[in-house]
Order: sequence, then structure tokens, then C-alpha cells
Amino acid sequence: MKQLTGQELRRAYIEFFKARGHAELGSAPLIPEHDPTVLFTTAGMHPLVPFLAGQPHPQGRRLTSVQKCLRTDDIDEVGDTTHLTFFEMLGNWSLGDYFKKEAITWSYEFLTQVLGIPAERLHVSCFAGDADAPRDEESAAIWESLGIPRERIYFFGKKQNWWGPAGQTGPCGPDTEMFYFTGEPCGEGRGEDCDPSCDCGRYVEVWNDVFMQYNKTAAGTYEPLAQRNVDTGMGLERTVAVLHGYDDVFRTELFASIMERLQALSGRAYEGESLRAMRIVADHIRASTFLMADGVLPSNVEQGYILRRLLRRAMRYARMLGIEGSVLPDLAMVVVQHYALAYPELAEKRELIAHEIALEEGRFLQALQRGEREFERLVARLQEGQISGRDAFYLYETYGFPLELTAEMARERGIAVDEAGFQEAYARHQQMSRAGAELKFAGGLADHSEATTRLHTATHLLHAALRLVLGEHVRQAGSNITVDRLRFDFAHPEKLTDEQLQRVEDLVNEAIAADYPVCVDQMSLEEAQASGALAFFGERYGDRVNVYSIGEFSKEVCGGPHVEHTGQLGHFKIQKQEAVGRGLRRIRAVLEA
Ligand code: SER
Repeated sequence: MKQLTGQELRRAYIEFFKARGHAELGSAPLIPEHDPTVLFTTAGMHPLVPFLAGQPHPQGRRLTSVQKCLRTDDIDEVGDTTHLTFFEMLGNWSLGDYFKKEAITWSYEFLTQVLGIPAERLHVSCFAGDADAPRDEESAAIWESLGIPRERIYFFGKKQNWWGPAGQTGPCGPDTEMFYFTGEPCGEGRGEDCDPSCDCGRYVEVWNDVFMQYNKTAAGTYEPLAQRNVDTGMGLERTVAVLHGYDDVFRTELFASIMERLQALSGRAYEGESLRAMRIVADHIRASTFLMADGVLPSNVEQGYILRRLLRRAMRYARMLGIEGSVLPDLAMVVVQHYALAYPELAEKRELIAHEIALEEGRFLQALQRGEREFERLVARLQEGQISGRDAFYLYETYGFPLELTAEMARERGIAVDEAGFQEAYARHQQMSRAGAELKFAGGLADHSEATTRLHTATHLLHAALRLVLGEHVRQAGSNITVDRLRFDFAHPEKLTDEQLQRVEDLVNEAIAADYPVCVDQMSLEEAQASGALAFFGERYGDRVNVYSIGEFSKEVCGGPHVEHTGQLGHFKIQKQEAVGRGLRRIRAVLEA
């Protein structure tokens, strides 16, 4: 096998598909630009959803990319040899162009000829068929024609051999997956019953060719798409590990500099008891660095909350490795150094990343030291063998310990946490602050006349437009409306250029001209956040919230009131911008008749 580095594999992949008529796309950001139903870009196909659905892509019908991806479903499983939150996905796409024969043949050629994986090590799986789509004998026959014998072709159901949609709805279809057979015995004791559907690691999945012919609707049904697409995805880290004969992605060159630094800082080797903690720190710091380069800052909501969780967990595990004091900025700079060639945005944001990571570390370090002492006191006083919901909430509120962290620390000592009790305490706290919240919302508006209502809706459009122009890190920090003008404070590190201000103003006026309907729905805060609604006031909300949607343009948790459609607003004009404190900007704007 060819012992390629990550960078060599990226280039070999892209060149292979360019030679077969594909246009190379740069990686899209980790924060989806067009899909509010998910927090992160989770696959290479994600930025391509509109094009898989039939919209023509400006670069043509054959595309290839290396995409930054982040998956949070199994944060808790990070620590073994294969799970990662951040990873890179190599992919090639056909938008209604070639289909199964070319996709499978090229996959086979790339694996065996370019990467030099012995054909006899390859096992593949195909879709077994069900009520939604037929058994994929066509793919199996193509594999056979390439020389993969029937006994190395497996058929599985939707759980294994169906991919997508990436969000709740959208393009999806049956897939065929390729596995490298390690030759190890089954780690789960299944003996000769072990097959590629087993998680034991004996078969390593390296590539997935999805035949995206269906659209999953909100009703849960599958309709044929306008065109038959191919969407493939190869995990970069895993493939590099296979090529070098490692069963542990953290041993590859992709992690080498992070692992070296961790070993130097801790004075421990990457072995035995240190394995899990080092993997967690390495994974989380890499993911965090990439998130920050894409504009995410630590906060208590949405992407910012995931980032905060990753950083805080990384730090706690660094301390378990015996590293005291500051560690995250140093490690983040190692990540920047390693990846700057492939991802120049890391180098561009180097200073911002170092600065913000140090701030978050400082905040957490203080809270952590005090919180850990408090945790020890709680444990020493324990009577019922479990940490009560009230105490877990106390750790959360006073020391910023997420429930997951308390639960994890408790688990290490074989102690349970009353998680339901925590949720109850949390809900009670929310109810108590609701009265205050209502006052605050009312306080943001001088009165509820027509003029202020219009300005309030304009504020939502402004918020959405700022996020479109400047990025998803923009978040409301304050709002004040009188009958004459709106004033909107938001997080953004620098002064807006004249062009940016103009673009924001234009976007708001376009949204007004589009005369979008303004709709309100009631739901829980969790549902609201899952639906992509902006909600930046944390526990200041009650447990049922109003979500205001303005067409597809804006969606925010809010107390109202709002106009019924944006055509009622008149012409939006930004009067000035100011700085209000570090990292905060203020915009004043009016609506003209
Ligand atoms: N979308 C598929 C996956 O994520 C193939 O790229 O596996």
C-alpha cells in the first residue's frame, strides 16, 4: 500500500477525479450557509444539497472536494481508536451525470491502483431493499464484474446501507460501502459470524458511494428526485490510518504534532492509561480550532455551546494528564501550524483563535478549580450514593459545569447523578426568571405602537442580514427601540466596511420588497433551537417560547410583537455604527416612509 500523508492523499484524490472531468471545490465552512436545520456541516454533500435537488451548479455536473466536517452525535465516544468529532471527507459527485457503473469503477480503481490496497482485502456492502427502494443487485453486479467475488459482497438494510438526508429532509438514497479487511479476529467475539456490519474494527469502512435518487419529505416518505446523483465520501483520517497499517487514527501523521506536544507537556507517553485522555484532548482541540477559524466563539447556545463543551472537556482531560495551567492556546497553535497549508483560514485567524481560546480557558480554569473542590465536598457528603439534581444544578449555575461534565466526573467514581432532578431544577429556575424576562422584553420597547412594532421586525431582518454578511458568529447582545429608531448591539470583532454596511442594508430592503409573511409558532426552547431559531438569551426564556419566522430569511425566539408581512416596513436605512466595548458593535437604523 502507498504510505501517503494526509496532504498527499488529498491531492491524489482530487487529481484522480479532476482527470475524470470533475471540478475541484474548496471546502465550505463548518457552519452550514443554507441549512438552518443542523448546526454543522456533517458531510461533503451538505453544501451541495440544493444542487443534488436539481439546481444547476456553476462548476458543472462533476464535482470533487475535501470538506471539513463536524459530527457531534458521538462526542462521548471520542477516546477510542476511531471516533472523531472533526474530520475531513474526500468526495466526488455526479449531479445527474454518471451513475453506479462509473462511481463504483472509479472507487475500485482509486483504492487498488492509486492507493495500492490489495483487491483481496476489499469487502463491500449493498442495499438489501425494502418498501421504499429495491434491492441493489445492480451495484453488486458491477462489483462482481470488477473481480470482487460474491462472498465478499454483503446486503444490509437501511441502517447500514442507506445514507441521508443530512438534515430532517432532503436528498438521500441507497449506498454501497467499501471496507478494508484487517485480518484480525472479531473483537466482539462473533467469530466467523463477524461481517462488515460489526463494530469491532475488523472491517474498516473507508468509502461510501451513495446513489441519491430520493428526496425524503417532511412526512417521512421518499419521492424520486428530479435527477439521479452520486455522492461519495471517504474519511481522510481513517484511510491514512489503513494505508500505514494503524488501527488508531491518532497514531497517523495527521495527529503526530499534537500528540508530541501533549506528551511533552504531560511528560507521559501515549500508552496505557493516557491513551483515552490524550485522544480526547487531541480531537477536541483540533475541532475547536477549526470551529473558531470559521467564526464560532464560545457561548451558551448553538454552535458556541458545542465549542465551549469541547474546549472545557479538552481542558479537563489535559488536567487528568497532569498538565496544570494554560494548555489550550499552545495546542491550538500546533493545530494551526499543521493544517495551515491545506486550510489557510487557520493561519488568517491565528491571533483571534489564540486570544479567544486563552480567554475561555481562563474563565473555565478558575471555575474548574473552585468547582472541582466543591464537587469533592459534595461527594464526601453524599448519603444516597448519587448526586442530587439540585447539587448538579448548583455546579452548573455557580461553576459553569455542564451536566455532562458532572455526570462524567461522577461516573469515574462509580457515582450516579440524578439527571431528571437536574432538569427539574433547571426548569424551576427558568420559571423564576420568566417574570424578569417578560419585563426585560417589554423594557426593550418604548411602547407598542405601530412604529415600534415595525422597527422590531426590522431588527430581526437586520440580525439575519448581519449574520449573512459577516458570519454566524454575529449574535444579538442588546436591542433598544423607540418610536423613531432602532438600536442593535451585536458581537463582532471589527468595524464594518462601507461595503458590508451597504450589503446589510440592501439585504434588509430586499427582504422588505419580497413581502415575506411573519409567522409565529409556539414550542419548547429545545425544539426552537433544533429548528434553527436564533435564541441568544439563555435561561432568560420561559419553557414554551414563541418562534417568529420571516419567510425563510429569519427565525428567532422572541416575545413579539411583529408586523404581519415585511411589506409593511417601508425603506430601511442604517444611520451609523459605533463600537460599544470589546467585540461589540452597535448599529442605529430607521425606517423611512
Ligand atoms: N454522504 C455520505 C457520507 O457521509 C457519502 O459522502 O458517508
